[in-house]
Amino acid sequence: MLSDREFITMSIDLNLFFLRIMKEHSLFLQLGFTPKDSASGEEAAAFKTGFENLLIQATNLANGNVSRAAVDSQQITTPYTLEAERLTYFYTGVPINTSLTQQEAMLNPYDRPISAEMVQAVEMLDRRAYQLTAALAKFKEELLTNVRSCKMFTMNYPLLIEHILREAHFFMDMLVALVHRNDITTQEGLIDQEVFWNRIMAEHSKFIAGLLDPSEEALIDAARNFGKQFDALTTQATQATRQTMDIANVTAQSLEETKKLRDFKAAGASGILECKIESIIIPLLADHVLREANHYLCVLGVCGNR
Ligand SMILES: [Fe+2]
Repeated sequence: MLSDREFITMSIDLNLFFLRIMKEHSLFLQLGFTPKDSASGEEAAAFKTGFENLLIQATNLANGNVSRAAVDSQQITTPYTLEAERLTYFYTGVPINTSLTQQEAMLNPYDRPISAEMVQAVEMLDRRAYQLTAALAKFKEELLTNVRSCKMFTMNYPLLIEHILREAHFFMDMLVALVHRNDITTQEGLIDQEVFWNRIMAEHSKFIAGLLDPSEEALIDAARNFGKQFDALTTQATQATRQTMDIANVTAQSLEETKKLRDFKAAGASGILECKIESIIIPLLADHVLREANHYLCVLGVCGNR
């Protein structure tokens, strides 16, 4: 059973990270539709606005409530986020709220007094986040069904749609746990998170490999290698859940490999922003996958220890 303080901090940390992720998923979906499916593009844009509004609420509640670890981990924003948003807007013409990003980058973790109103406001945020994410998950699910049955075409890979759908369900599960005042950072929970995030890291690597220009052979090879490493780590983490085998060893290896992938993603984001890498990677997607690696490192116990 979480204390009010724990409930508030865990909820704020989770929402700051995942509401931005959901907002960006909506943008990536929006950008992937062809002119024929402009109505779906508008639906995705409406989700983006909805998540942005929730993220504004979360950010207003976050000052003095967010954890030091979340701030230090660069999972909320990174040094690349603002520039990635500016460049994404420059390329696509789709407006992005950069002042929100600037506000998030200045959040303070110091203790704010807890009140019944604060607990209530945070619980309301959790519930709203759940509802909107459930609606977005339904949208992603329908899109995936249409794409997989060849009724629709989009520039997003089917695996990417499945991947972002899984992330939505994961966020929803965490929100349910929190409103029931369950701790989402327990040791038993950690191994499930490792299975989940190792697979996510494997898929990021494969997306990067598939979205780089075919001439970027060295980077493609490196990305493919990460994909294989994280596939193996996913298998090991899954086995660890079944056989109570040496989880500490899997955790140590996952941590090591995620640090390497984080560095690779950071170099990728910087290379894309500086026009040094040829690809069809949306700049904000490069920053998005970097933030997810930073989040996973924090789950593994290394928040902001560069
Ligand atoms: Fe992801």
